[in-house]
Amino acid sequence: MSVGFDTSPCRPQDLGKFEIKERDGVARIGRLFTNHGILETPMLLPVVNPNIRTIEPREMWDDFGVQALITNSYVIWKHEKLRTPALEHGVHKLLDFPGIIITDSGTFQSYVYGDIDVGVKEIVAFQRDIGVDIGTMLDVFGRPDQSIEELREAVSKTIERAPLSLDEAGPNLLLNGPIQGGLYDFLRSESAEKMGSVSGKHRGFTVHPIGGIVPIMERHRYLDLAKIIIAVRETIPANRPIHLFGCGHPMLFPMSIALGVDMFDSAAYALFARDGRLLTPDGTVRIENLKEWPFASRILNGISPSEVREMEDIERTDLLARYNLEITQAELAKCREAVRSGKIWALVEQRSHSSPELREAFLFLKDRLIQNNDFSSSEIIRSSSPIRSGSERWTSDSSSRPHLLHAKTLIRERWTPPLKNWRGESMNGANILLIKSGRSPWRDSVKSDIIHALSKNPNQIPIIQTPNGLLPFDLEDWAPLCHIQAFDSVWSSIPSPSDESLRDLGLNSSSISILQSTEEVTDKEVRVQIHEWLEHSQISAKCSVFLGSTRESTANWLEGISVDRSSTGRIRNVFSADGRHILSPRLHDGGISLTNEGAKDLHSFGEGPPRLVLADDAIPFVRDGRNVIHGFIEGVDDNIAPGLPCLIVDSNGDLVAHGVSRCTSNEILKFTKGIAIRTRGGIKIHDSE
Ligand code: GUN
Repeated sequence: MSVGFDTSPCRPQDLGKFEIKERDGVARIGRLFTNHGILETPMLLPVVNPNIRTIEPREMWDDFGVQALITNSYVIWKHEKLRTPALEHGVHKLLDFPGIIITDSGTFQSYVYGDIDVGVKEIVAFQRDIGVDIGTMLDVFGRPDQSIEELREAVSKTIERAPLSLDEAGPNLLLNGPIQGGLYDFLRSESAEKMGSVSGKHRGFTVHPIGGIVPIMERHRYLDLAKIIIAVRETIPANRPIHLFGCGHPMLFPMSIALGVDMFDSAAYALFARDGRLLTPDGTVRIENLKEWPFASRILNGISPSEVREMEDIERTDLLARYNLEITQAELAKCREAVRSGKIWALVEQRSHSSPELREAFLFLKDRLIQNNDFSSSEIIRSSSPIRSGSERWTSDSSSRPHLLHAKTLIRERWTPPLKNWRGESMNGANILLIKSGRSPWRDSVKSDIIHALSKNPNQIPIIQTPNGLLPFDLEDWAPLCHIQAFDSVWSSIPSPSDESLRDLGLNSSSISILQSTEEVTDKEVRVQIHEWLEHSQISAKCSVFLGSTRESTANWLEGISVDRSSTGRIRNVFSADGRHILSPRLHDGGISLTNEGAKDLHSFGEGPPRLVLADDAIPFVRDGRNVIHGFIEGVDDNIAPGLPCLIVDSNGDLVAHGVSRCTSNEILKFTKGIAIRTRGGIKIHDSE
């Protein structure tokens, strides 16, 4: 089954760099550049004990698609029969593994067995000399039961050892910089900040494992685990992969990945196999009483649980370890696919039912995200693209999905009611026209009723009541807010809008009328006028919400526009009063695409999408339409977010291009590899005059 990973060394200038290829919020599909290939994340490093190889590394590579593994350099150093061949032929030969080899340093052994007899520099030098790809410095293990003073000591000793370890690593050995701090959030954040900023002679740390969590996971304290990940993420540089040291239970992957973890490692596949336990994404299953396997698997195909129970210990362990590795890899593939399809939080919701402790952690996260008053929640929400084609499956947990919260935040912060009604009169003191009937697309199901209601009373603002909250009718085709899959009783039991939800839209509840369906025909001329007003209002609402322009300035900009339409009558392109194509509403997701002319207008008004300042070297390429690459950006506004437009300017503030961001402002300042902005249009010099 070999998947044929390329093991060639990366370009020297890329060594240790990490780039994001795809993302769903802070969950990311990444690539880490090493001397034995490009490591694709999120991924699990199976632990290989060089003395007891339950599954041979070569078999992992050939048959299980394992691109990288982790072994223990201290164990190799300690055993003469391993140390000499490792020093002579290198660790790849010792293990017979062509992929990426990561090593730990002996810290865990010191936690389990007490003091170890190797020095801080010595163990790094050894990892360097045996040709490891990513080694680990000798950190100080912080246990969850330790006092604050002891944990402070573990954190500061680890930080103290960091620069000497980085210097000793030399130019080729990448290093893990573990984060300690026990259960104290502030110590975790402090450790992450300091370890993240240590710079060695050649480079800083490449990966940051979160250490000291094995005893926390052994006690199923998943709420503590979630809090630790959040505390670390708050201060860790965004361009460094995060590894959960010793975490390998598939049940924990979705939540950890959704919080921004990139790597896992574990001996669980082998340890659990030894006492007859199966890992599954829903928890652990003992084989004792099984009549059938809970999951289909290549490894267990054709063998019954009772046959496995009758096997010799070694044979049974070997088989179950292979099953455990297979299911672990399969769950990671599922998580990666969920990230690619924007469904990682839906998977977190599903998996949260695997154990009460995991559910407790999820409910904590759900509440925090909904409150959205801390840095990490807002980072998760802001980095979740709010415009996505496709539908949203409603569950009792779906209200906390970060991309929906992002969309709702944009509505709350940027949407305002139209300034004038269809008769051109001010909308001051307008009524709310609440749409409780019909399903999306509402433009088909209720538009004629809305037109009728507005013909009677023009001073009304149509608002749709959905299971995900209130949606102004002028944003009715914004996916996924508009594509909600929910059963009928969910729709029929939505409570009346609270004062708070109306206040969020800048409305008050003093006058709400419910949209009624009617057979009455509205006068044709009036119908056309209201229809056009609704369309116009939709464009200006989207300019507010997606481009950050106010209704007032959009009203001036859109004065006298003309449009062309699709075969179904929907607006495809919008032209300014002087006939320039300025934007196109997107029919598949309800977003809008700016054109160069539109970007130039917004730039000249001095408002609209956030800006970033491009380095001089990159300007000719980006003017030519090439994407903006990390490392060529000199400054950013602080509200750049994935999936939303931005303007790209030079150091004088002149427009160079416009595009759609793939990252947040915080990430733009940190990453040095990969695409930051997908350019949608470069402004040629003669264009901008
Ligand atoms: N393996 C599991 N936990 C740890 C840790 O805290 N530090 C190191 N170096 N290895 C580990």
